[in-house]
Amino acid sequence: MIVLGIESSCDETAAALVDGDRNILADVVLSQLEEHRPYGGVVPEIAARSHLEHVDRLVAEAMERAGKRFADIDAVAATGGPGLIGGVMVGVMTAKAIALASGKPFLAVNHLEGHALTARLTHGLEFPYLLLLASGGHCQLLAVLAVGEYRRLGSTIDDAAGEAFDKVAKMVGLGYPGGPLVEKAAAAGDAARFALPRPMKGRPGCDFSFSGLKNAVRLLVETLPKPLSATDAADVAAGFQAAVADSIADRCRRALAEFRQRWPAGNTLVVAGGVAANKALRARLEAVAGEAGFAFLAPPLGLCTDNAAMIAWAGLERFRLGLVDGLDFAPRPRWPLDPNAAKLGGAGVKA
Ligand code: KG4
Ligand code: ZN
Repeated sequence: MIVLGIESSCDETAAALVDGDRNILADVVLSQLEEHRPYGGVVPEIAARSHLEHVDRLVAEAMERAGKRFADIDAVAATGGPGLIGGVMVGVMTAKAIALASGKPFLAVNHLEGHALTARLTHGLEFPYLLLLASGGHCQLLAVLAVGEYRRLGSTIDDAAGEAFDKVAKMVGLGYPGGPLVEKAAAAGDAARFALPRPMKGRPGCDFSFSGLKNAVRLLVETLPKPLSATDAADVAAGFQAAVADSIADRCRRALAEFRQRWPAGNTLVVAGGVAANKALRARLEAVAGEAGFAFLAPPLGLCTDNAAMIAWAGLERFRLGLVDGLDFAPRPRWPLDPNAAKLGGAGVKA
């Protein structure tokens, strides 16, 4: 079985082919980073136009690299949401057109389900497991129970973790995107010099919050001489990163305990999303997982961040179960994986 996947929900245009034996036959990703850099963040209109401009070529390139024609594939999957709606529409319309022209079934994949099932593509991981998804748009803890069956144990009540990294990088003058730059600066900094809050630490539940910490960093930076010296910037970055790691570790510790009680068959903590690239955070999470008797699994970086292999794979898993979507599927800007948890979301929660 071979599935073509298309991803276009944020600032990466991507196309990939995977097969039922967990082989990635092709995986092409075009980042729009340079187009958005002057604005210090993703501009939805620019993103949508750029997806439209590049998606056909990327699909053709993926097909060529895999050495396949549309007649060789079994289904076409595209991210159907959640995400920036203009971009999602481009991917969905492209996939529908290919499906219609080639007579293949169409699958609308939830972007979060793509992230959630990646560990099954890369490691053949069995259900159930606990997933921390921390990216520029999302920060949530999900119990992954089966294809289409997820329980959200926690979610950010305001900003995503990656967004906080990006904003802090801007405040201390490091540039965009902030995560890798903050991590680099933090390596030379003194995390203990400035006292910063650990949002939600010790609170019941597994929700996250980053806006208070972001604000604390802003107030701190206001007290420092401008322009910031390299030492001050490094110390702020280190302090911020330590606070984020502490906060996320605390939330994960609680989620692992809850997971163990409710789904004792599972014993793996999986991380995904761009923030999962952070080595300091990874080390903390690996320790937290170990203390709780869980294995720690991080898919290769290119499959942690946005890509189409995860969309093709989630499509393949759904297709294997006989799930397909109609060509009347409407793209969804919001699409929670766990509909029962959706009501708990606060302002700024993107899924
Ligand atoms: O998953 P991703 O590539 O795209 C989506 O948001 O969907 O995640 C990007 C986010 C950005 O906010 C970026 O600053 C953050 O992940 N990030 C990092 C690191 N690398 C990327 N955050 C902390 N440490 C990093 N090394
Ligand atoms: Zn993503």
